Amino acid sequence: MSREEITPHRKIFVANWKMNGTSSFAEAYGAFFREKYQDVPKNTFTIICPPAPYLKILHDAAQGIVLLGIQNTATERKGAFTGEISADMAADMGCRYGLVGHSERRHLYQENNTIVFEKAVRLAEAGITPILCVGETYEQREAGQTACILAQQLQGMGRLPLTQEVIVAYEPVWAIGTGKTPTPQNVQETHRTIHAILRAEGLSAIPLLYGGSVTAANAKDFVSLEEVQGVLVGGASLKCEEFLSIVQSIEL
Ligand code: PGA
Repeated sequence: MSREEITPHRKIFVANWKMNGTSSFAEAYGAFFREKYQDVPKNTFTIICPPAPYLKILHDAAQGIVLLGIQNTATERKGAFTGEISADMAADMGCRYGLVGHSERRHLYQENNTIVFEKAVRLAEAGITPILCVGETYEQREAGQTACILAQQLQGMGRLPLTQEVIVAYEPVWAIGTGKTPTPQNVQETHRTIHAILRAEGLSAIPLLYGGSVTAANAKDFVSLEEVQGVLVGGASLKCEEFLSIVQSIEL
């Protein structure tokens, strides 16, 4: 599968395991997708972001059936940065996608928009498509600041190298891991706002995902929207059967 195949009609499903799993979990997950290959709808991209130590295990077990993503990479290219993983290393491990700007990184690790942008640039330079996560907190939403926050988070996107290979995931912070979701109409409106912001940055046709408490029960509500090109799934992606059902939701 090549990147060029991301077309508006191809839905994208991203699993973010966060800091969960074991080597045997990764092996079983990959084997499940390999076995269920025929059940994965053809017009989909399935991207799995396991913890970095399990990338190869997942890759070998899935035998190319799923695409690999890295959850986090460094702002620097290489050198004395103990504990960091560079974008080049992720590419070397077979990752074609990389999360950046996830709300847990922004809030728990104080990654501001400058750091997020640096990381996105490193990913793009390494030939990895950044999946840039943006979203407002509950307080910001209540204060009517959503569009302003999104514009700040997306500022400078037009200067990214290889901009045609960027994916944006709208993940309202208050919806992540809470079981609460915006209504599909809300997501539709916010995605239109994001498209307008991106157009002002000189970017068009950027795939937009929705993320935040997506499950097999509600995935269809989001992926059936024209403005939504896919979903980013955390908790519900930890069950391979449920994640497959989410991917299959385009057929319901
Ligand atoms: P969730 O996480 O699906 O568990 O809400 C989504 C995410 O953090 O990307």
